[in-house]
Amino acid sequence: MRTVYVNGDYLPEDQAQVSIFDRGFLMADAVYEVTSVLDGKLLDFDGHCARLERSLGELGMTMPVTRDELLDIHRRLVAENAVEEGGVYLQITRGAADRDFVFPADDTPQTMVLFTQSKPGLADSPLAARGMSVVTLPDLRWGRRDIKTVQLLYPSMAKMEAKAKGADDAWMVEDGHVTEGSSNNAYIVTGDTIVTRHLGTEILHGITRAAVLRLAREAQMKVEERPFSVEEAAEADEAFVTSASTFVTPVVAIDGRKVGTGEPGPTAKRLREIYLDESRRTAI
Ligand code: PDD
Repeated sequence: MRTVYVNGDYLPEDQAQVSIFDRGFLMADAVYEVTSVLDGKLLDFDGHCARLERSLGELGMTMPVTRDELLDIHRRLVAENAVEEGGVYLQITRGAADRDFVFPADDTPQTMVLFTQSKPGLADSPLAARGMSVVTLPDLRWGRRDIKTVQLLYPSMAKMEAKAKGADDAWMVEDGHVTEGSSNNAYIVTGDTIVTRHLGTEILHGITRAAVLRLAREAQMKVEERPFSVEEAAEADEAFVTSASTFVTPVVAIDGRKVGTGEPGPTAKRLREIYLDESRRTAI
């Protein structure tokens, strides 16, 4: 049984409790982060912390603990649960208060929960080797996708619809352009240029995205941050996604049409290697 963290306590998972009045439960009034673990170490912890602070700030919440304390909690959970490969999930809510659309008083204690997920073989995933298929669906999420809230019902429904259509995941489309995947950022490669949507309120500012774009530029690859259409994607030489839990994963089919050769492309493969090497080297 896992040891999990709830509001200062480390407990067996079946003893961890949160109030039924918690605003995370009643209103999705909460933000989260997922930090990957390789070789028992945390990947890009500072990036996840910075985004967490930003998400909280956008919703008028604050960090309930310091960065150092948060790092200690992550490390203790990884150690106690002997996680070699996997991730740490963290969620902070506005706390428990009688149900009301109005936010509770500022001194309402926030709820903070963390747990680990062990995923042996994460870095060696068969999906990355074979490449994944995606279907496009309308992006019906709210307009502040740059805030990492726990309102994940639509992404979850999109993933189910993709599975029902025999695909691995969904790419979401707004005004004819791809925003991002259900839980990852989306890219295409045309010739020697990597294209991914620019940052804004329409997409989550992926921590993996920032690292991969930096590494791509360092490797003298061309990067364009701009919207791309479904048609442009279907005619691209390659496509891929990035996220903390999938790193860089090739996309080999979009809406049943092969992307390029229909096999994982060289750019995606190379970026996955570079990203994994660099992540292992800088993990803490
Ligand atoms: N998902 N876009 C969306 C909508 C996401 O949910 C995620 C992450 C990303 C990639 O962000 P990052 O590189 O920081 O993981 C982009 C996480 C992994 C999840 O919900 O499990």
